[in-house]
Amino acid sequence: MVTGGAGFIGSHVCDALLGKGVKVICVDNFNDYYDPELKERNISEASNNDDFTLCRVDITDSDAIREVFSDHRPDKVIHLAARAGVRASFEDPELYRKVNVDGTKNLLELSKEFNVKNFVFGSSSSVYGTNEKIPFSEDDLIDNAISPYAETKKEAESLCKEYADSSDLKITCLRLFTVYGPRGRVDMAPYKFTKNILNGEPIEMYGDGTTKRDYTYVMDIVDGILSASEREGDFEIINLGDSNPIELKEFIAVIEKETGKKAIINNVPMQRGDVPMTYADISKAKELLGYEPKVNIEQGIKLLVEWLNG
Ligand SMILES: NC(=O)c1ccc[n+]([C@@H]2O[C@H](COP(=O)([O-])OP(=O)(O)OC[C@H]3O[C@@H](n4cnc5c(N)ncnc54)[C@H](O)[C@@H]3O)[C@@H](O)[C@H]2O)c1
Repeated sequence: MVTGGAGFIGSHVCDALLGKGVKVICVDNFNDYYDPELKERNISEASNNDDFTLCRVDITDSDAIREVFSDHRPDKVIHLAARAGVRASFEDPELYRKVNVDGTKNLLELSKEFNVKNFVFGSSSSVYGTNEKIPFSEDDLIDNAISPYAETKKEAESLCKEYADSSDLKITCLRLFTVYGPRGRVDMAPYKFTKNILNGEPIEMYGDGTTKRDYTYVMDIVDGILSASEREGDFEIINLGDSNPIELKEFIAVIEKETGKKAIINNVPMQRGDVPMTYADISKAKELLGYEPKVNIEQGIKLLVEWLNG
């Protein structure tokens, strides 16, 4: 079962699993946080595969999601469904809590009841917030979260730990670092910047361009997720990043190089919830998942540009 399977990362996970001959139950409610038509497109190819079953279900609807478990009896769950925007979480923190915390609890409870073997939870680097120690390591205290979104991911991680301790569920929480690539989320800088620069439209640069992000190519993230879904060990929290942060200004320069176009930059202040830097220590992922990011930022942006150019 892949929850959020029609979303950016989830749809790539579904495709990769189908490519390996694995049967996939995709759970998604196609909400309108961004245009649901894009989500339909993400899974249009997968939908032609006999091994792919689509369940248009909300993970907060306990009865409906129970029916999916009882009808399909998944042996593994990759849980990526969430309200995922940091900034939007300030507008409606209750909704974020309902989906990201209560929805996760529903899935953990049902996974326990239906004897799921392995549960992977898509957590976020946002839990590190304004952490000053770099690179961010899984052992760092996470009491610097600065958005409702980050708080919901922290709480969901705690729930995962509770369920792992009190059941046979094998759970891995993966802290994902700024994921980009084809099908990328339209509310995120990599997509917005690349699309606008390609079209000769202005981009909004938050702050002075010196904030740093550990941009990670989506297929590297997918490799890490699939590897976590094969894990036999006990509960773990594992970073999945590129471990190679770059400044926003430099990121824009890479897009300019790969598109062959000059960015038109509008300077705007930093936004609530923005952190100065993300930087993943990925030694644990290397050790436990054999994770090794393969696509550097130039290659990744090139692939994003090719996809946007259709
Ligand atoms: N993209 C990133 O950089 C990033 C970074 C850190 C963590 N994450 C996490 O990875 C996961 C996937 O993120 P994404 O970027 O692919 O986002 P996305 O919004 O493209 O995908 C999430 C999917 O979940 C679905 N969904 C949302 N609420 C649902 C509900 N109540 N019931 C059923 N489906 C629901 C959405 O329709 C969407 O298709 C999320 O949990 C997100 O928090 C993403």
